[in-house]
Parts: sequence; C-alpha cells; structure tokens
Amino acid sequence: MGKIGIANVRPYGEDEVQLLIDDGVIAAIGKDLNFDEIEGESVEVIDAGGKVLLPGLVDMHVHLREPGREDTETIATGSEAAAKGGFTAVFTMANTSPVIDQPFLADAVWEKGQAYGKCDVYPVGAITQNLEGTQLSEIGLMSQGHVRMFSDDGKCVNDPQVMRRAVEYAKAYDVLLAQHAEDHRMTEDAVAHEGETAARLGLGGWPRVAEESVVARDVIMTRDYGGRLHICHASTEGTVELLRWAKAQGIGVSAEATPHHLLLTDEKLESYDGVYRVNPPLREQRDTIALRDALLDGTIDVVATDHAPHGSEDKCVEFEHAKPGMLGLETSLPIIAQVFVESGLADWRFVAKVMSERPAEILRLKDQGRPIAEGEPANLVLVDPGAAWTVEGAKLRSKASNTPYEGTEFATSIALTMLRGTVTYRAEDTAAETTITSTK
Ligand code: DOR
Ligand code: ZN
Repeated sequence: MGKIGIANVRPYGEDEVQLLIDDGVIAAIGKDLNFDEIEGESVEVIDAGGKVLLPGLVDMHVHLREPGREDTETIATGSEAAAKGGFTAVFTMANTSPVIDQPFLADAVWEKGQAYGKCDVYPVGAITQNLEGTQLSEIGLMSQGHVRMFSDDGKCVNDPQVMRRAVEYAKAYDVLLAQHAEDHRMTEDAVAHEGETAARLGLGGWPRVAEESVVARDVIMTRDYGGRLHICHASTEGTVELLRWAKAQGIGVSAEATPHHLLLTDEKLESYDGVYRVNPPLREQRDTIALRDALLDGTIDVVATDHAPHGSEDKCVEFEHAKPGMLGLETSLPIIAQVFVESGLADWRFVAKVMSERPAEILRLKDQGRPIAEGEPANLVLVDPGAAWTVEGAKLRSKASNTPYEGTEFATSIALTMLRGTVTYRAEDTAAETTITSTK
C-alpha cells in the first residue's frame, strides 16, 4: 500500500495541518510536514484545501436487508452508501429473512462486509428467535463471534419476563441490548404520531406513551439486573426526561436519535406521501427540540440513521399501506452539520463525538472513533462544508431511493472516506492533485 498525504486539512475543523498515511495508520501529522522529504516510495498527495477531517463515522443502526430482500439493499450496496455517507463501520439489524438469530448467519454478514471491503459491517443478533418475542436466541454463542449488540429492532421485546431474561443474559455475556421501544398493544393500526396532524388527516395515532412506557420499564430492569441497555431511535420529549433521570441514577443506559427525528416533524404528513412513514413516527416540534438539547448535553449519546431501504412498490402507495422506514446513510452527516454546526449550536468536535467516538465507545470498537493522531488507524472522513448538493433519490448509492429529502439542498457534503488507509469513497472533485516521488 502506497503512502497517502493529505495536505491543508483541518482536523475537527481546527487548524490546518499536513497528514501522512502509511500502511493503514496515521504515520505523521504536523503543520510543517513536507511530503517531498519523505523517504522511500511515492506519496499520493490529496490537497484538502482546508476541508474538515473527522474520524470515520460509526452507525449503530442500519438495515442492509441481506439476506432476503436483496432487491432493496445488499451488504455491497449498503456498504457503498455507507462509504459515500462518510461511514467506516455500521451495525446492520437482525430483521432480515432469515432473521439473524444464529452464529452462522451472523458470521456470513460479517464476512460479506469484509470481502467487499468498503465498510466494516457488524451483524446485530436477534434477542429472540425469529423476532417472535418468546424464546431467547443464541445470545451466548453469537457473542463468541462477531456479534456485540443484540436487538429485535423493527419489533419491541414486549414480554417483560422475556426482556428480563434477555437483560440477565446480556449482562452475563457483556453485550449491548438495544431496544426498539414500542408497546405493540398501543400501536395497533398506528401509522402516525398521535396528535393534531394525525387526527386531522384521519391517520391512526401512535402515542408517546407507547415508547415511553417501555423505556421506563427497561431502564428500571437495567437498574435492578444490570448490564448495558441502549434505546434505539428515541423520539419523544418524555423519553428524553426518562433517560435524563436514568443517567442521573447511574443506570447503564445509552440512546440514539435519528437525523429524521432531529430534523422533521409530523407536519410533513400533510402530503400523505408514504416516504414520511417511519417507526417510531415523526413527532412534533417540541420533541425535535428536546432531542436536539439531549444530544447536546449528552442525555442522548449518538446519532444513528435507522437507514431503512424499501422498494417503490412498498413506499409509493397509500400512506397507511406504506412500509415504515427511510434512507439515512447518505444524508446523515449533511443533516447533522446543518442542524448543529451551520446553526452555531455546536462544532465539529461535537459531530465527531456523536457520530463516531461515542458509538465506537458504546460498542467497544478498538479501531473506530479514535483521535486523529499519530499511530492511530486511518479510518477517516474528509468533509466539505462548502460543497452544496441537492438530494436525488435515483442518484444515491443505496439500491432503494426512499429518501424523504428528495430535492432538498444541503450545504455540506462528503469529499472522501478512508477505511484503514484505503479510499472507499471519493467525490469527483477530490481527485489526487499530485504524486510526489522521493528521489532520496
Ligand atoms: O421505520 C422503521 N423501519 N423502523 C423500524 O424499526 C424498522 C425499519 C425497517 O426495518 O424497515
Ligand atoms: Zn426500530
């Protein structure tokens, strides 16, 4: 592997430096580093022109649909979308067909991701067999392989006794249990947030309490039985209050918010466009604001996309019949940049924290979310805060095109992504500027 130099780059949006990558790691970093003076082979130099450098992004929650629905996404196309979105590691949920509830299925996901090589694709194991919510899956065996997180996402583990056993097992094997918090009895026929908009549009309402009651129950279980609990796609102001309480008690809970719950509200449903149907549903502005504040003060730990590809046959239908879920990988960083950095609410250090460092820490990834420093793995994303672009679903790398941001312009884009020193995505205008061959 040749050496790569990144010239005039701003780690975390701070002072410009030069950075040398060799053999998958950051070999040198400094203001006055001169690529001409580097001994040995040639150095491919990329002039970053002042762009921002962050650690490669880590997404705790995606759906890559393989095995079973390869018509909507595969590990390969999902990895391409991830790399284009700036991600170097993603965790793909178990609600595939078959469900990832046995070690050999989890191993196959991991191996396909590695063979493709664009992004580390970690399999999430199911908590219960076939996501049926009754019998625990092979949590112990799966945890001996590549599975470090378990979830029935798409469905909630509703039965309290099953959840209690899952909490105890997860503690014994020291793995993360991620709950999709939804009391299914309260969401029968629900397709939209229970509120004024759903009432006016005649859509079945999904109340906040359907989420919050499960969050409350599960943080108390974690208090009493230990282990590490993670709340998927927190969507309400009340969930934020419960998390704040739980963290103040020292309970081992973490949580994620999605870009769509941070940006969009249920007013979007006025169009009856199925692209806006998602579980949990888009809420109201006070929820959006509570989620933003929670992410800023650490009550919510991370941003996770819940990237959920669906074909047009399942999305371009009546709202009630549309499958829930929306694409997220390729628009996530631009949205977080808009909501937090361009608005002045936070800086790039914050983005690095919530999109890379904290998820890597929660999932105990040793080579992700690392500081941009000498000797660290070259898992990096080069961000261009001044390259506006307009979302076109058909042009996304994802196999599906169910983006709720069709036609939306974002100011920030991804210029380049690198996994262990190998470029996995490069925008057309970030061509290598020069190649320097040392004469020494
Ligand atoms: O909207 C959603 N879509 N929420 C989920 O929990 C599952 C996901 C999917 O698999 O499509
Ligand atoms: Zn979910």
